[in-house]
Amino acid sequence: MSTDKKRILTGDRPTGALHLGHYVGSLANRVALQNEYESYILIADVQALTTHWDKDENLRRDILQITSDYLAVGLNPEISTICIQSMIPEIHELTMYYSMFTMVNVLRHNPTVKTEAAQHGFKEMTYGFLGYPLSQCADISIFKAHLVPVGEDQIPHIELARKVVRRFNELYQPVLVEPEALVGEVPRLVGLDGKAKMSKSLGNAIYLSDDAKTVQEKVKNAVTDPARIHKTDPGHPEICTIFEYHKVFNRAEVPEIEAACREGSIGCVACKKNMAAKLNDLLEPMRERREKYSESDIKDILISGTQRARAVACETMREVRYAMDIDYFGR
Ligand code: TRP
Repeated sequence: MSTDKKRILTGDRPTGALHLGHYVGSLANRVALQNEYESYILIADVQALTTHWDKDENLRRDILQITSDYLAVGLNPEISTICIQSMIPEIHELTMYYSMFTMVNVLRHNPTVKTEAAQHGFKEMTYGFLGYPLSQCADISIFKAHLVPVGEDQIPHIELARKVVRRFNELYQPVLVEPEALVGEVPRLVGLDGKAKMSKSLGNAIYLSDDAKTVQEKVKNAVTDPARIHKTDPGHPEICTIFEYHKVFNRAEVPEIEAACREGSIGCVACKKNMAAKLNDLLEPMRERREKYSESDIKDILISGTQRARAVACETMREVRYAMDIDYFGR
């Protein structure tokens, strides 16, 4: 599988189905780049345990769900390697080495970790939670990835990965690659409530696995301009959630929709119907692709992907141990 192509590594925690925010933030980029780069997609089940250590009964189901989402958006398992983090123990070995030269304060100041701790109501942090960005540095660098397509919130982690790799290469030998983040065209997609980023935990998401009717219902109930009661009232697209979606999913019609909304010639009901239809046009091919894979196909894809990925990780670890001069029996 190894080629001269540059590599991509990216990943997700298996904590539920993927939604449109994931699609525009990162998945679309992964699909677009999978032919140009040698791509690895890591299902970060150990990282999921940092917040869900007592909900591990869902991991099995969520790993299958997320893989099915990957296949639905068009990641091709023949060319993109989909793998499971916990089954590549070399990642945890590398994390341990990184932890020897990484200061606790650097981890404490990570803004994404702080935000997530607040969201989960953590008064104290576990060692694993505080340290997960370092484990993510290992996820990325064990594959010598050049590029990491992620949502905006992941940028601090990629910055850390660059620093850690640089430090390792200076301390020992230059065997690792400094990665770069690639943020999608829409780094933050607003949720159906119009208040916050689309997110599973806020219940404001449209899932890639939603059926056509569910999409229509969700769009129908989305928050729009609260000042608009009658269809003929002039609207304010700049504060409307649905208008945000038109800008992302229906770019061609934006000028006419904006004008019609402002002059009160199109009502919210029609505007929402149009949006739901556009979303269903995007999701329909995903529904068809998803149908093609049975549960046992998905398991086979995970087994062979994890095997391929582990071989790459083992090769990097040989170089790492050599660089650190801890390959005692090797020479
Ligand atoms: N932290 C990412 C998230 O919460 C998931 C993740 C784990 C990841 N390992 C990664 C992303 C490596 C990019 C690269 O979504």
